[in-house]
Amino acid sequence: MPSPVIAPYPATRLRRLRQADWSRRLVREAVLRPSDLIWAMVVHEGEGRIPVASMPGVERLSVSEAAKAAREARRLGIPCVAVFPHIDGARKDASGALASDPEGVIARAVKAMKDAAPEVGIMCDVALDPFTDHGHDGLIVDGRVVNDPTIERLVEQGLMQAKAGCDILAPSDMMDGRVGALRKALEGEGLCDTMIMSYAAKYASAFYGPYREAIGSGKLGTGSVENPADKATYQMDPGNGEESLREVALDLAEGADMVMVKPGLPYLDIVRRVVEAFRAPTFAFQVSGEYAMLTAAAANGWLDGERAMMESLIAFKRAGCSGVITYFAPAAARKLGA
Ligand code: PBG
Repeated sequence: MPSPVIAPYPATRLRRLRQADWSRRLVREAVLRPSDLIWAMVVHEGEGRIPVASMPGVERLSVSEAAKAAREARRLGIPCVAVFPHIDGARKDASGALASDPEGVIARAVKAMKDAAPEVGIMCDVALDPFTDHGHDGLIVDGRVVNDPTIERLVEQGLMQAKAGCDILAPSDMMDGRVGALRKALEGEGLCDTMIMSYAAKYASAFYGPYREAIGSGKLGTGSVENPADKATYQMDPGNGEESLREVALDLAEGADMVMVKPGLPYLDIVRRVVEAFRAPTFAFQVSGEYAMLTAAAANGWLDGERAMMESLIAFKRAGCSGVITYFAPAAARKLGA
């Protein structure tokens, strides 16, 4: 009997393919695999594992715990880890001198992880903020984060990371021209295989809040000349979409191999536009605040944390991402392997 309710299209019933798990799987467009994940992790200078209060389930890892985590990434099929440093506040200064320390926690963690699991890729942030007492990503002169002098420091930092064995340099500072400067310096040192994933479209976002606790970031925001209140003079304005295409075009022209959009879920429209415009490997960073929102709601019993995690990650694949940088990587990979 043709249904009078949905006439005149009685043959079109989109629910037909949704009726069983097997048919849903058969026609699913986007899939999430462990190989889509980059595991964001924080390393610290001391011993053991220290929980990050605003990111339940995330701990700062000592160098030897980071090496164990690299082995765990290999076991779970996670291709790459992204390491961020927590530095003792007493050792920070205005210039972020420790950023290029060849004996520092980043260099030691990269070496230990490469020894433990050489098959796992390692990505390092190129930016001064974990090392500056003011918490900004660059050098400050007369109340401004100055572009070109900052780039000189970033190049020293990036070269140190590459020499320590880092596979992917990920400049997250948003200075103009830093990708070209890093690429030129790498070529000059014969490090022509070191990859660059630029934080190309990185927004001045409130969603980085918990990260500041995780890495013990210097306190932003007095608005004084020594310490401008926020990062809006270098990170992108959340209202801008067209500008993301200019940022990505420049970074690719300067020698980036891959580009990133950050934060993730609130900026999926940017991901889609970048993928369509450039067809280059495009990643999204599901940042600390996104992680905190989901885990806090789950801890209150307000949503099913595991399902929300997996749904958020498939959304990145559906939008066209090659992969996702996420603190959920080990939990998601375990779920996928289960
Ligand atoms: C540093 C940097 C930040 C993040 C990654 N690299 C913070 C910022 O730019 O203020 C954020 C990561 C997160 O929130 O998970 N340049």
